[in-house]
Amino acid sequence: MERKRVLITGAAGFLGSHLCDRFIKEDYHVIAMDNLITGDLQNIEHLFSLENFEFCHHDVSKYVYVPGKLDYILHFASPASPIDYLKIPIQTLKVGSLGTHNLLGLAKNKNARMIIASTSEVYGDPSVNPQPEEYWGNVNPVGPRGVYDEAKRFQEAMTMAYHTFHGLETRIVRIFNTYGPRMRLNDGRVLPAFIGQALRGEDLTVFGDGSQTRSFCYVDDLVEGIYRLLLSDYSQPVNIGNPDEITIGQFAEEIIKLTGTTQKVIYKELPTDDPKQRRPDITKARAILDWEPKVNRADGLKITYEYFKNLPAEALVNKEHKDFTTYNR
Ligand SMILES: NC(=O)c1ccc[n+]([C@@H]2O[C@H](COP(=O)([O-])OP(=O)(O)OC[C@H]3O[C@@H](n4cnc5c(N)ncnc54)[C@H](O)[C@@H]3O)[C@@H](O)[C@H]2O)c1
Repeated sequence: MERKRVLITGAAGFLGSHLCDRFIKEDYHVIAMDNLITGDLQNIEHLFSLENFEFCHHDVSKYVYVPGKLDYILHFASPASPIDYLKIPIQTLKVGSLGTHNLLGLAKNKNARMIIASTSEVYGDPSVNPQPEEYWGNVNPVGPRGVYDEAKRFQEAMTMAYHTFHGLETRIVRIFNTYGPRMRLNDGRVLPAFIGQALRGEDLTVFGDGSQTRSFCYVDDLVEGIYRLLLSDYSQPVNIGNPDEITIGQFAEEIIKLTGTTQKVIYKELPTDDPKQRRPDITKARAILDWEPKVNRADGLKITYEYFKNLPAEALVNKEHKDFTTYNR
């Protein structure tokens, strides 16, 4: 039987590369697209020799051409960490808007089903906790995070318009903080930031008083949720994340224990518009997808720490965030 064909954008990134692995495992033909602006070919180089895998170096904010049939498109291209989107704000807005439009056009042309990677950031700094899909959010469009949050909100609106106006099969996953191997050690997200500091023998930096909360989902659980959502018949947004909420202060303590570092926690000023609380309401994912996270934080952190510990020494050098404020994202 002919293999189903899937286009994955952002394929050389953290989540995109894990999605490539999953679709290869399910015996799809995977077309991986990326312009490598924040991604790394090392994340997918183990797939290059496979006959059902191809890589296309392309910026999806420009016209996207893919020959042959396509069954599914997974649009995961976008800078995703605050350091990245503060450095490249216009590209971030473009990939969420123009990139999404290009891919929706491609999906329509190929009669493919498309899923977009939205984010808990559409809820901004939320006034309800946990956040259900019905919550409309509290986003500052002109704040530093607006370039990411509003691109993602526009992306959802555009995707829903293609669904209602053109009858396109679309899916929207709102991803909450996810972690695991292949994150960039110095991308400014809180987990690699803490582990990187511990490995370098630096103090762990908490922004604010550490009382703000996050909920971390292990990447394998997220990928399973995305896979189920794509194959479901549900076109409204679905939260996928782990509701096990923790304060950033407690999380720093967990990392200190995990890594055995003798360093301490230091506190710096809370950045603008940093969300105070973040916890997914996953009632919908449970009911519609029969999905819930399986990997507890202690186990997921151990695997992730092993990955970071075994990176070559030069990966530890932090060239990325000396000029940028790090967020506890
Ligand atoms: N990791 C998380 O916790 C999280 C949470 C919410 C949403 N998301 C979303 O998931 C997606 C992937 O995030 P990630 O954590 O893997 O980030 P990442 O930076 O590791 O991966 C993003 C990939 O997209 C590529 N890319 C960016 N702009 C592009 C363009 N114009 N054309 C082609 N490729 C481009 C980058 O080179 C990179 O390989 C993003 O859309 C992000 O917004 C991630």
